[in-house]
Amino acid sequence: MPLHYKQGDLKLLEREAEELRRAELVTAGIDGVRPPRVHRLAVQECMLVTEHVPRAESLFNHLWNRTGWCRWRSLHRCSAEDLGARLGKWLRAYHASTGFLAVDSREYLARLADRTSCKLEHLQRRADCPVGLHTTRRIRSYVGQIIGPRLTFGSQYVARIHGDFDLANILVDPQGGLYIVDFADTREGLALSDLVRLWHAVWAISELSQRRRRALQPFLEALIDGYGNLEVKTDSPLFLALRCWNALTLILSASMFGTMLGFSGNRALRQLAAVNRTWLESTDFSLKEC
Ligand SMILES: Nc1ncnc2c1ncn2[C@@H]1O[C@H](COP(=O)(O)OP(=O)(O)O)[C@@H](O)[C@H]1O
Ligand SMILES: [Mg+2]
Repeated sequence: MPLHYKQGDLKLLEREAEELRRAELVTAGIDGVRPPRVHRLAVQECMLVTEHVPRAESLFNHLWNRTGWCRWRSLHRCSAEDLGARLGKWLRAYHASTGFLAVDSREYLARLADRTSCKLEHLQRRADCPVGLHTTRRIRSYVGQIIGPRLTFGSQYVARIHGDFDLANILVDPQGGLYIVDFADTREGLALSDLVRLWHAVWAISELSQRRRRALQPFLEALIDGYGNLEVKTDSPLFLALRCWNALTLILSASMFGTMLGFSGNRALRQLAAVNRTWLESTDFSLKEC
C-alpha cells in the first residue's frame, strides 16, 4: 500500500491519528467518503503515516478545473449533486457521532466574534487594506449583536468539529472517491462552522461566472440537503456570521500570501478575494431573525 507521511509535533500528530481513526469508525456507513487509514505513528521520526490516496487531486482543483472555460472537462450536474450530498451526509454523521454536545454555545459565539474582530484588525493594519471602514463597522456591529444574551438562533449545536473543512483538505481520487484529510485542527466547536467553511468556499467559486454558478449550484444545494436542510438556513444570522469570518480570512490570505502562489494561484486567489469583498460590501447585516 502506498503511504503518506506527515511530519510535525508528536502530540498534535497523536491527536490527529486518534481523530482520523475515530472519524473512520463513526462515518463507516457513508459510502464514497472516508478519511485515509492510519498506518502507524512513527514516534522517533515524529511522523504520522497514513494510506496515500493515489492520483488524488484536491476538491478545489477538481471543481475549479471542471467549471472553467474548458468545456471538454466539465462537471456534470449529477456529479456535482452527488459530491455535495455525500459530503453533507458525511459531515452530519461525523458531527452527530459526538451527539451534538449539550453545552452553552454562547462561549463559542463569543469566540467567533473575537476571531472576526481579530481578522478585521489584521486587515486594517495592512497598507493595502481591502475592506472599507464602513463595511468594517457594519461587520463589527453584526457579530457584536449575535452574541447578545437575548438572542437565540437555530443550529448552534456544539460538536467535535474537523476545524479546517476546506476544499484543500478534501481529496478526490480518479474514481470519484472522496477522502477527508488534515484533522490537525479538530476541536469542540460550532458544528455549523465546518459546513459553512465548505459551502462558502464553493459559493465563492460559483460567483465567478454564469458557467461556474450553473455547475456548482447543485453542489451547494445537495450539501445542505445532505447535512439536513430542515435545520440549516443559509440566511440565518449564525450562517452569515460564519460566512463573514470565512470571507475575511480569504481576503486576508490573498493580501498576505497571494504573491507566493505563482501566477495562476495568485490570480485565482485575487478573483476569489474580490468576490468576497463585494459580498461583504453588499450584504445586509441587520438582524432579521431573533
Ligand atoms: N493520505 C493522503 N494521500 C494523498 N495526499 C495527501 C494525503 N494526506 C494529505 N495529502 C496532501 O497533502 C496536503 C497536505 O496535507 P495536510 O494533512 O492537509 O497537511 P497541512 O496541515 O500541511 O495542510 C493535502 O492538502 C493533500 O494535498
Ligand atoms: Mg491541509
